[in-house]
Amino acid sequence: MLARLEAHVAEQQRFAANASHELRTPLAIAQTLLEVARKDPHHDTGELVERLHAMNTRAIDLTEALLLLSRTDRRSFTREPVDLSLTAEQAMETLLPLAEKSGITIETTGAKAPTTGSPALLQQLTTNLVHNAVVHNLPEQGTVWVTTSVHAGTVELTVENTGATLTPQLVATFVEPFQRGSERIRTDHAGVGLGLAIVASIAQAHDGTLTLTPRPGGGLRVTVQLPAAASRTAR
Ligand SMILES: Nc1ncnc2c1ncn2[C@@H]1O[C@H](COP(=O)(O)OP(=O)(O)OP(=O)(O)O)[C@@H](O)[C@H]1O
Ligand SMILES: [Mg+2]
Repeated sequence: MLARLEAHVAEQQRFAANASHELRTPLAIAQTLLEVARKDPHHDTGELVERLHAMNTRAIDLTEALLLLSRTDRRSFTREPVDLSLTAEQAMETLLPLAEKSGITIETTGAKAPTTGSPALLQQLTTNLVHNAVVHNLPEQGTVWVTTSVHAGTVELTVENTGATLTPQLVATFVEPFQRGSERIRTDHAGVGLGLAIVASIAQAHDGTLTLTPRPGGGLRVTVQLPAAASRTAR
């Protein structure tokens, strides 16, 4: 019990240190840009504004991800009926333009998958997974498969994608906060490495599980299992 508590405290401290470090980076870059501009009054302000804007956006994205994580961990949300096949459909619609730009095809299939939870958080979970499947895919001609299914007492969302060959050891690190894979294929995606930590936290807050498995031909298969909504007749 004490060992578990100590491990938890150590994990929290590591998380806080990583979060501070990640937040300091855009702030430090902004500071340098401002100092350079102050020393050179003829500096191109248009470029300065652009770069400061990019740094600021990154800091806001990171802060929002951190707030979302803490809200989810505290389980402070109301529960409503949610059909995962609809959240999957919505995630696909949101990410279709990005997928098309990257030459990636998204295929959605699946039955109604009714569960209970926060519609916004379950939408976030699904969107994060489909987003990952698009950005961490092959440089061209990649595919993403999104499937929903119902099993005894459980609903399942599976997001699978083509991509680089992954080892189980590497995949095991993906859920850790601020962990980014060693090789980045799409260099234009500078993620903060919180997407899967958020997915894990949302799944846990809904009494569900998250499983990551490398695909034999390369790429990843991610499965989220959640308790099925109790049917009216079962009451
Ligand atoms: N579907 C996937 N296929 C292949 N690799 C993946 C997939 N999803 C995640 N990864 C790997 O796991 C790492 C962590 O993913 P995570 O979503 O937590 O962070 P991220 O995508 O890098 O940044 P962001 O915070 O913007 O989501 C990624 O950097 C990537 O290397
Ligand atoms: Mg991500």
